[in-house]
Amino acid sequence: MRNFIIDTDTASDDAVALVMALRQPDIAVKAITVAAGNVPLPMALQNALYTVELCGADAPVHAGCAKPLLRELETAQVVHGHDGMGDIGLALQGRRPADGHAADVLRDVIAANAGDITLVTLGPLTNVALALLREPALARQVSRCYIMGGIGAGHGNVTPTAEFNIWMDPEAAKIVFESGMNMTMVGWDISWKYATFDAEQADEIRRIGTPLAEFAVDIQATLAEFSKTENALPGFDLPDPIAMAAAIDPAIAEYGEFRVDVTTGEGLERGMTVVDVLGVTKRKPQMRVAASADRQAFVDMLKRSVS
Ligand code: RIB
Ligand code: CA
Repeated sequence: MRNFIIDTDTASDDAVALVMALRQPDIAVKAITVAAGNVPLPMALQNALYTVELCGADAPVHAGCAKPLLRELETAQVVHGHDGMGDIGLALQGRRPADGHAADVLRDVIAANAGDITLVTLGPLTNVALALLREPALARQVSRCYIMGGIGAGHGNVTPTAEFNIWMDPEAAKIVFESGMNMTMVGWDISWKYATFDAEQADEIRRIGTPLAEFAVDIQATLAEFSKTENALPGFDLPDPIAMAAAIDPAIAEYGEFRVDVTTGEGLERGMTVVDVLGVTKRKPQMRVAASADRQAFVDMLKRSVS
C-alpha cells in the first residue's frame, strides 16, 4: 500500500481526483485536508465529505484555512458552480468533518509516515504553507509532493500569466516552492492539452453507467460551459485528476527538472510560476515539471476508477 495525503479546495475536478485516489486499491488515503479556493471552506468541506461517502471510503476530512495567508479569498464559483459541483442539486450539506485543523493533521500524518507518504495538492497551498511554517522538517518527511498548479509553459487561466491555485495564494505557493520538498508540478497547460473532454468523450465516461461515472461527469456541468465560453476548450478539462494520475503513476507524464519561482506581486506579476528553462539563473533546479502526458493512459485510469 502507498500512503497518500491530499489537500484540496474541493470542487468538481477535485472531486474526480479524490475518487481516483480513493478507488485505487494500492493507495491508502490517510487524510484529506481542505482549504478555501474554488468555493468557501464550508462548501469545500461538504463536497469532500460527500465524495468520500459516495466512494464508500473512510478517509477523514479535516477543515483548514478559510482564506489565503495574506490575500482576500476570491472563489471560482463562476467556473464550477455556486456549490462547486455543477449546481445539479446534490445533497451537499450536513456532513461532519473530523476533528483537527488541516495544518496539524498535515504535520502529524506526515511525521507519522515520514519517508513513506505522498502529498498531493489540488488547491491553493495555504494549508501546506502553514504546516511547513510551523514544522519545516515536514519538507524532508514527504516522499514527494505532486502539485496541481502553475503553468509549465503557456498561458494562465486567471490572468494571462497565472493559474488559479498559485494565483489565489502566491505567498503560500512561494513558501512551498522554496521549502526543499521533492516536488512535481503538473501545470494547467497539461490539463488543457491532455485532459479535456468534449461532449462525446464525456458521454463515453458517463455511459460506464455506474453512480461514480455519472457523478464524475454530471458535476462538471458548470465547468463544461465555462471551459467552452471562457477557456476556448471543446469541453471541460480535468486539471486535478490528471495531476492525481501523475501521483498514482508518474510514468503517465514526462518531466523536466527546473528552477521554478513564484511571483507575489500584483496584476500580471501575481502568481506566476517562472520556469528557468535555460538555467540562466544558475540556481539548482528544485521542481520536476510535467511537460507532456499520455492522454489515453489517463483516460483509462479515470475509467477504471469509476467502473
Ligand atoms: O486552475 C485549476 C485549478 O484551480 C484546479 O485545481 C481547480 O480545481 C481550481 O482549484
Ligand atoms: Ca482544485
